[in-house]
Amino acid sequence: MLTKDRVIVCKDYDEMSRRAADVFADYIRENPTGILGLATGSSPEGIYTCLIEDNKAGKIDFSGIKSYNLDEYYPIEPTHEQSYRYFMNDRLFDHVNIDKANTFVPDGKCADPDAFCKAYDEQVAAAGGVGIQLLGVGRNGHIGFNEPGDELIGATHLTALCESTIDANSRFFETRDDVPRHAITMGMDGILSAECIVLVVSGKEKHEALMMLLSGKYTTNAPVTLLRSHKNVYVFCDEAAYNG
Ligand code: GLP
Repeated sequence: MLTKDRVIVCKDYDEMSRRAADVFADYIRENPTGILGLATGSSPEGIYTCLIEDNKAGKIDFSGIKSYNLDEYYPIEPTHEQSYRYFMNDRLFDHVNIDKANTFVPDGKCADPDAFCKAYDEQVAAAGGVGIQLLGVGRNGHIGFNEPGDELIGATHLTALCESTIDANSRFFETRDDVPRHAITMGMDGILSAECIVLVVSGKEKHEALMMLLSGKYTTNAPVTLLRSHKNVYVFCDEAAYNG
C-alpha cells in the first residue's frame, strides 16, 4: 500500500531524479541480471542521465540487465525521432553498457498488434517478470498509455490515445496531426505485477494527477490511483507537483 513515508517530496526535478535513480542503482547492484521496466517522457529523462553517470563512474553495471518498455506509439518507425525506441536509445541505451539485444520496446510497426501484444506479455513472463518498474504519469492520470475510462485492460494491448494526450504530446511533433492516434501499451496487470514500482511526478501541471493518487480513492478515470494498492511502490515528486 502507498504509505506516507513512500511519498518523497523533493525540492526540484534534479533532486527528484537523483533520489529516484538511487532506487534503480541499488536494484541493479543487488540484481545484476535483473529486469527493468522502463518509461519514456520528460519525467524519467533526469533519472536516465543519473544512471548514465553512475555507469560511467563504474558504480553500476548494465551488462546482465534486461529491460522492457511500457509503451510505444502505433504506427511509428523505430528510427522516428519521436518513437519510444529512438528515445530509449538516445537517452539511455546508447550511453551505458547494456546489450541492446536485451532491451525491448513494443514494436510500433508490427503487422499484427494483437499477436504482438500477446507475445510481449509472454516474453516478459518467461523472463521472470519486471523487478522494478519506472513510471511517469500523464496530466489526465494515465500510466503507460492506459487512458482514463470506464474500464482498464489487464494485458498489453493496442489503444487509442485521448484527445488531451494527443494535445499534451503534440509538443514533441511538428504538428498535432503528426501525433500517432494509437499506441501499444502494457496493461494494468503488467504494471502492477512488477515487484517494485517507482513513480516520478514533476511540475505543477501534474498536481491534479498526483492529488488523485494521494486522495485515497480508486478510479479507472485516473489509472494512476490503482498504484495505491501495490505492495512496494515509491512516489518521488517535486514541490511544484506536490504543492500545485
Ligand atoms: C506519455 C507516456 C507516459 C508518460 C506520460 C507523461 O504519454 N505514454 O508513459 O508517463 O506521457 O509524460 P511526461 O513525463 O513527458 O509528462
